[in-house]
Amino acid sequence: MTNLRRLIAAIDTPELDRASALVRELAPHCGLVKLGLEFFLRHGPAGFTAAAQGNPVFLDLKLHDIPNTVAGAVRSLLPLGADMLTIHAGGGAKMIAAAVEAAREATWRPKILAVTVLTSLDAAGLAEIGVAGGPAQQVLRLARVALENGADGLVCSAHEISLIRDAFGAKPILVVPGIRPAGAAVGDQARVMTPEAAIKAGADYIVVGRPIIEAESPANAAAAIAAAIR
Ligand code: C5P
Repeated sequence: MTNLRRLIAAIDTPELDRASALVRELAPHCGLVKLGLEFFLRHGPAGFTAAAQGNPVFLDLKLHDIPNTVAGAVRSLLPLGADMLTIHAGGGAKMIAAAVEAAREATWRPKILAVTVLTSLDAAGLAEIGVAGGPAQQVLRLARVALENGADGLVCSAHEISLIRDAFGAKPILVVPGIRPAGAAVGDQARVMTPEAAIKAGADYIVVGRPIIEAESPANAAAAIAAAIR
C-alpha cells in the first residue's frame, strides 16, 4: 500500500458545500475521506453521494443496535458504495456477525471496522458504566469479540496499536485517529501520536481531521503528512 493510500482525511463539517469542496481538494492527496454522523444525519445518502463524488469513503456512523437492526442499517448503506463502515464492538458477537453478514451481500463489500472503547472514556468513565479493569483490558476484550465474529479490523488509538498487534497479529486492519503532525495543535485529543510514529507502530490507516481541514491549504497539509509517512 502506498503512503498516500494510508491517509484518511476526516471531513468534519455539517456543510454540504464545504464538504464537497474539501473532498475535491483532498481526494488526490489521501486514500479515503471520512464522513461521519455530523454530516450524514444532516444530508443523508444524497449528501453522501454529492460530497463523495465517486471517491473512496470511510463512513463512520458507529452503528450500535440489536443484530437485526444493524444488519438492516448496513444493507441500507450498501448502495452508497462506502469502502469502510464502523460499528460498536460493544453491541456484542451476534450484532457484529450480523453486520459482517449483511456487508457480504454487496458486490463491493465494505470493510467492517469495530470501535472498541471510545477514546473519550477513561478508567473512571468505564467504571461508572460498570466496566472494571480499565481501558486496555476492555479494548482487548472487545477486539477479540469483534475479530472472532468477522470484523475486518478495528478503530483504535495509536497507543493501543502494539497491544492489539501483540494479541491479534498483522491481519486486522487498524485505523487510527488522534494523529497530530509534530507541532500541530492538539485540540481535544488527549493522547496523540505523529503520523510517522503511528505507521511505524503498525497502523494501516491514520485518520487526520483538523490539522488538514483547518490548514490554510488543506491539500498541502495532506501532502505533507503523506510525505512524512513514506
Ligand atoms: O480533527 P481530528 O484529527 O482530531 O479528527 C479525528 C477524527 O477521528 C474525528 O472525525 C473524530 O471524530 C474521529 N475519531 C477520533 N477518535 C476516535 C474515533 C474517531 O478522533 N476514537
